[in-house]
Amino acid sequence: MGVSVSTSLGPFVIATLPDMAMAPIDRALRLFQQAFGGEPAGVWSAPGRVNLIGEHTDYNGGLALPIALPQRTYAAVRVRPDGVLRVVSDGMPGGPVSVPLTEVGPGSPGGWAAYVAGVFWALRDAGYAVPGADVALSSSVPVGAGLSSSAAVECSVGAALSDLTDLGLLADLDGRRRLATVCQRAENDIAGAPTGGMDQLASMLGTAGHALLLDCRDGSTQAVPFDLAAHGLALLVVDTRAPHALVDGQYAARRHTCQEAATALGVSSLREVGLPYLAHTLARLPDDVTRRRVRHVVTEIDRVGRFADAVEAADWRLAGTLMVASHESLRDDYEVSCQELDLVVKTAMAAGAWGARMTGGGFGGCAIALVDAASASSVEAAVLAAFAGAGWSSPVPFLVTPADGAGRDQ
Ligand code: GLA
Repeated sequence: MGVSVSTSLGPFVIATLPDMAMAPIDRALRLFQQAFGGEPAGVWSAPGRVNLIGEHTDYNGGLALPIALPQRTYAAVRVRPDGVLRVVSDGMPGGPVSVPLTEVGPGSPGGWAAYVAGVFWALRDAGYAVPGADVALSSSVPVGAGLSSSAAVECSVGAALSDLTDLGLLADLDGRRRLATVCQRAENDIAGAPTGGMDQLASMLGTAGHALLLDCRDGSTQAVPFDLAAHGLALLVVDTRAPHALVDGQYAARRHTCQEAATALGVSSLREVGLPYLAHTLARLPDDVTRRRVRHVVTEIDRVGRFADAVEAADWRLAGTLMVASHESLRDDYEVSCQELDLVVKTAMAAGAWGARMTGGGFGGCAIALVDAASASSVEAAVLAAFAGAGWSSPVPFLVTPADGAGRDQ
């Protein structure tokens, strides 16, 4: 089950083949024992997320409405006195990555370990005294599916460091928001992914039975009851397994266009563009692409508020219509969908879903469908058949309910 290697820090046994039959918390514990010896001080976890609506709005000061997922990343952690970080993950190839914290910076370490090391760096940069640590990770959040596996890693590690160094940041909403900002900086500044903050806020602040209404202009949040079962509903996630990457330049390009548009309009963010003035605003923009990007952002922010109201009123027809409008806007104006995501949406709607849309940054990844619980399996079957009919490899459908944010498990 493991191989032994010698490193400058001593011999390690690396678990090369995670035992997927074990719960991820047990895998993290066993990996810790194998890689580092002895026991961790504890295990912390943080969830991935799906966004119900409000896509590419967070970096525009807008609204978004994610839920935290039952799928979580577990971090078994023990502090070290020598300022060195050692980190191992059973989801990533290779043995433990070892780096002195003084050497952590933009691009160092490279690869997946940056998402862990970056949290240490960002906490230190925010003025917190953080020691070195041994960290073993195991996750049930699919990697590369657009479900924020990276935020789950960052937030599980951030939660551990907050507890282990008595920062107390998990104790209240304000502390959790600050920790989410730290985790976002890890991703932006050290891992080099220019993401907007929704993922870390969802992973830190999500609560079971609720969606999280984020106002990214003032950082305020509101828990919106989203008890699917009470309404006979289910939320189906379909992982298209189409390749997905946020560091390939497309995301950054969209973000840059929005910033340029805000500058051209003389506003601090596109949130300041009111929907009633949209036509007038668009006429002031230089080109068609910029106009379509701005139209997506402004209309999407409006849809989030209306969707939250529809959920509160249990108006699923309206909620579903808004989801489809969001998808069409992302497909046509923001141009971040792909044929696999479009097929999920089209097929789910034809099979009776209330609404469906791509979720997350796009360019692959997952779509979601809001369905009657009783028809979840037929919608699922229709999607599988549609992919088979298109000659594409099978997508992975699964049902989710809103779960709690980051915390200590053991
Ligand atoms: C990714 C980013 C988020 C957000 C979404 C799009 O998930 O990490 O910050 O911008 O894309 O809504």
